[in-house]
Amino acid sequence: MTSTDQRTAIVTGAARGIGKEIAERLARDGLAVAVADLDSMREELDGVVQGIERSGGRSIALTADVSDPEQVNALVRDTVQRFSKLDVFAANAGIAAVNPLLDTTLDELDRLVRVNLYGVFNSYQAAARQMIEQGTGGKIIGAASIAAHKGFEMLGGYSVTKWGVRGLTQVAAQEWAKHRITVNAYCPGIVGTAMWDLIDEKMTEQSGEERGTALRRFSEMIALGRVEEPNDVASFVSYLASRDSDYMTGQSVLIDGGILYS
Ligand SMILES: NC(=O)c1ccc[n+]([C@@H]2O[C@H](COP(=O)([O-])OP(=O)(O)OC[C@H]3O[C@@H](n4cnc5c(N)ncnc54)[C@H](O)[C@@H]3O)[C@@H](O)[C@H]2O)c1
Repeated sequence: MTSTDQRTAIVTGAARGIGKEIAERLARDGLAVAVADLDSMREELDGVVQGIERSGGRSIALTADVSDPEQVNALVRDTVQRFSKLDVFAANAGIAAVNPLLDTTLDELDRLVRVNLYGVFNSYQAAARQMIEQGTGGKIIGAASIAAHKGFEMLGGYSVTKWGVRGLTQVAAQEWAKHRITVNAYCPGIVGTAMWDLIDEKMTEQSGEERGTALRRFSEMIALGRVEEPNDVASFVSYLASRDSDYMTGQSVLIDGGILYS
């Protein structure tokens, strides 16, 4: 296989958590992977790249704040310069905030929207432009959540952004189908990452309960009886990135161990 035959991917928010697992999985699937995150995560990013390379994969670390379209455009440009083309973009980067609506400030809402919604919009747009120019089609994948299917108390701002990702994914899928680009989103449930550490910390702070209580309470909703692992999400993203999912587009699919049913 020449380097131009190898499929290539960008994964944002890939320094840790779900994004790291997606990057490692796509590399195992044989893709060359650009792992991207904030500049402050440089050390963790380099660790992900080293891990992929040790396992025989191809990878580069790039930094980009997804809320800035210029940085996302540069991320695509640098990836294409290094790997020749772009086949898959996993717009995974996201942040959470925990607050009742009455205490949610516009500043907080703005921060969530900039990263979780504008970040995905910037990523979808930059990826689609590159794929259209290549004429190769491609796979665009976004991070939504169970909170894109049901609003959760204390996660109002977060839910707003994830519902937005779902709408964006439906429109992008329709507009770009003629370019053989599919656009789908994954909707994890309760994944044991730094994000849930924060949610549990803030929820228990608000309720006065012991740390861990909120995670336990939410986990009781999971039919399969265990907290989700990043790998549970990554194996589904692997499918979305593969040719096996060629006939699927515009979907925001629950992968939550059985919390919500749609
Ligand atoms: N953890 C869960 O239970 C859960 C559930 C549903 C959906 N999700 C979604 O999955 C995605 C990954 O979540 P996670 O649990 O791995 O979170 P995480 O906090 O462990 O990792 C998120 C990564 O995104 C990066 N990031 C944050 N802001 C960024 C920005 N502006 N530009 C670039 N990178 C940025 C962070 O530095 C971090 O490395 C998020 O979109 C999240 O909303 C997570």
